[in-house]
Amino acid sequence: MDKKTIVEETEKYYLPVFGRYPMVMELGHGCRVWDNEGNEYVDAFAGIAVNSLGYNHPVLVKAISEQAAKLMHCSNLYYTEIQVKALRVVAEATGMDRIFFANCGAEGNEGAMKLARKYGVSKAPTKYKIISADESFHGRTFDTLAATGHDYYHVGYGPLSPGHVLVPYGDIKALEAQMDDDVCAVLLEPIQGEGGVHVPPAEYLQQVRALCDKHDALLIFDEVQTGVARTGKWFAYMHSGVKPDILTFAKGIGGGFPVAGFAVPERLAHVFKPGDHGGTFGGNPLA
Ligand SMILES: Cc1ncc(COP(=O)(O)O)c(C=O)c1O
Repeated sequence: MDKKTIVEETEKYYLPVFGRYPMVMELGHGCRVWDNEGNEYVDAFAGIAVNSLGYNHPVLVKAISEQAAKLMHCSNLYYTEIQVKALRVVAEATGMDRIFFANCGAEGNEGAMKLARKYGVSKAPTKYKIISADESFHGRTFDTLAATGHDYYHVGYGPLSPGHVLVPYGDIKALEAQMDDDVCAVLLEPIQGEGGVHVPPAEYLQQVRALCDKHDALLIFDEVQTGVARTGKWFAYMHSGVKPDILTFAKGIGGGFPVAGFAVPERLAHVFKPGDHGGTFGGNPLA
């Protein structure tokens, strides 16, 4: 197909939610991509912080090809050796004990907040408040939308998912003013990514940790964008020495294949009982 047909038919059939550049990408290698007219580009976006090994890394291509030929999907009703290998690697890299695999960052955050709500409500029926930050981005599902701190994403949907409170990022006094025993979780990016790169003031994450501990609220770090060595360590929280109770990951962890999820320490392993959470595709052998 020529460029014109591809652009026109995409615009005809796809829901018009993306503003796309008029380029038709065909091939990638390392940090470079080529369009279908043979123009070469350096993808400084890395597929929006996803292609952590570059395009077509031979080890990744080999692993995916071999697994695709063996077993792509079999559901989580069964065990697979490849899932154990992935669990070991992710547990070690995140510094956590228990992992749940999902398909995208929003789904990882959604599961993390769901777990935090269950944790909170098991302690008191009113303990379901989730605090997140202005200018954050946590995804586009209904609950992650409410946790996302941009009015732009909120307009036009009627009432948002209840129980969410937004505070200015990096402002410990503003957070403290909203903290009480009804808070089940504080959800933050250790460095904000979507609205600009916002590094919080020194000590902020430590102070947030202390407030969470005081009110028995879970600290969730959304490391969808900062994770997987993007800041030099496996996860950005490792620079601050502040360990979250729930860590969410996506983007770079699959090197281009949809892989995401969240990780928790053993003490939160049994907040969810069998059937409380799940998903058809998450953790499938190919991913
Ligand atoms: C910090 C953060 N959280 C969550 C998301 C949502 O991830 P996804 O688009 O995979 O649902 C993003 C995406 O840009 C993000 O940057």
